[in-house]
Amino acid sequence: MQNFIFDNKTTIIFGKDTQSQVGLETKKYGKTVLLHFGGGSIKASGLYDEVVHSLKKEGLKIVELGGVKPNPRLSLVKEGIKLCIDQKIDFILAVGGGSVIDSAKAIAIGAKYEGDVWDFFTGKAEIKVSLPLGVVLTIPAAGSEASTGCVITNEDGWYKRSCGSVLIRPQYAIMNPVLTYTLPSYQTACGATDMIAHVMERYFTNELDVDFTDHLCEVTIKTIMKHTKIVLKDPSHYATRAELMWAGTIAHNGLLGTGRIEDWGSHDIEHELSGIYDIAHGAGLAIVFPAWMKYVYKHDVNRFVQFAHRVFNVDIDFNNPESTALEGIHKLQSFLSEIGLPTSLKDVNIPSDRLEEMAKKATESNSLGNFVKLHEKDVLAILQIAAE
Ligand code: NZQ
Ligand code: ZN
Repeated sequence: MQNFIFDNKTTIIFGKDTQSQVGLETKKYGKTVLLHFGGGSIKASGLYDEVVHSLKKEGLKIVELGGVKPNPRLSLVKEGIKLCIDQKIDFILAVGGGSVIDSAKAIAIGAKYEGDVWDFFTGKAEIKVSLPLGVVLTIPAAGSEASTGCVITNEDGWYKRSCGSVLIRPQYAIMNPVLTYTLPSYQTACGATDMIAHVMERYFTNELDVDFTDHLCEVTIKTIMKHTKIVLKDPSHYATRAELMWAGTIAHNGLLGTGRIEDWGSHDIEHELSGIYDIAHGAGLAIVFPAWMKYVYKHDVNRFVQFAHRVFNVDIDFNNPESTALEGIHKLQSFLSEIGLPTSLKDVNIPSDRLEEMAKKATESNSLGNFVKLHEKDVLAILQIAAE
């Protein structure tokens, strides 16, 4: 097990009606708030009115910026930075999912930086300071409500890139599972897949003696799979929505990666897909992750056997462990199909004519992943498996 420091400053305020506390929580950190949101789901559900009411009740000044698109764009981030500077904003409130939260994080660092905010995403600049931010979460998926990550798409070249720092972890995340009842099935399934992927990026490691976190990872994946199937049949099932929402935060708040070297190759490959073709991140992962697994499983068959056995109850074939490993990958793919997600590029009508370009773009500054280091030819091979 690796040495590690685990801390997570995000205060989680979880449960029914918790959005009414947003004004009081925000008041601890600022007076002039940028209220940041997406394309309209929060207005349709009435959440927008509740949030505004709570902020006004505490005497906070509100400046609004809506219109965040899934796979959030750099141009809106720049608009937000200008607003923050012009209006002397001292706190950013993201009401929505990963896209809104990431857009808020990028604005928070850009507003405190003299150069181009994209510098943080190319590695040219390091995050040294950020405006504080808070979250009212409406979709369990990206885990951005308590993560150190931020992913933005630059329309100039359609580069989807990430940056990270403990400084951009939100101060608080308000998580009311009832707010997720309105999610379309497809978004619920995409979210669940993203959460599972966040766990698997940590699970597939070369690190030895990580039995405790192995088991935490396995039980988190099993919980997500079990409750996704229930919620797709019964979208207003509180207990199930609650299990998913909390599991989504734990999947990506750093706990499950403690003491381990994480991978993240599949995520980096997926970002090329959603950057260029604007598909949902979870759908892209449903396509890329099984392809990655098929490409790398021979690197450590025993780890894949453990995954198949403990997560999917596959009986171990001691004479042919590879078949057990492959059966686990097959079971994962069947689960993804069962919840209505694509598992091949063909399923989302992505042709094979730009696979080389994506492989090149993904590896132009570095190799990807840690479990197995992936170079351009490896990424291309994985995309070719994904295209089958
Ligand atoms: O824009 P609105 O109208 O709000 O609609 C959204 C959007 O269309 C809708 N939605 C959200 N909550 C809803 C709802 N519809 C009805 N009822 C609700 N309660 O869902 C759609 C998707 O929203 P989005 O925020 O894009 O989803 P998600 O949370 O999956 O975020 C995806 C983004 O997060 C990034 C992804 O790459 C992607 O850009 N990620 C961020 C990470 C991080 N910061 O740590 C890690 C992840 O691996 C991921 O890369
Ligand atoms: Zn993800």
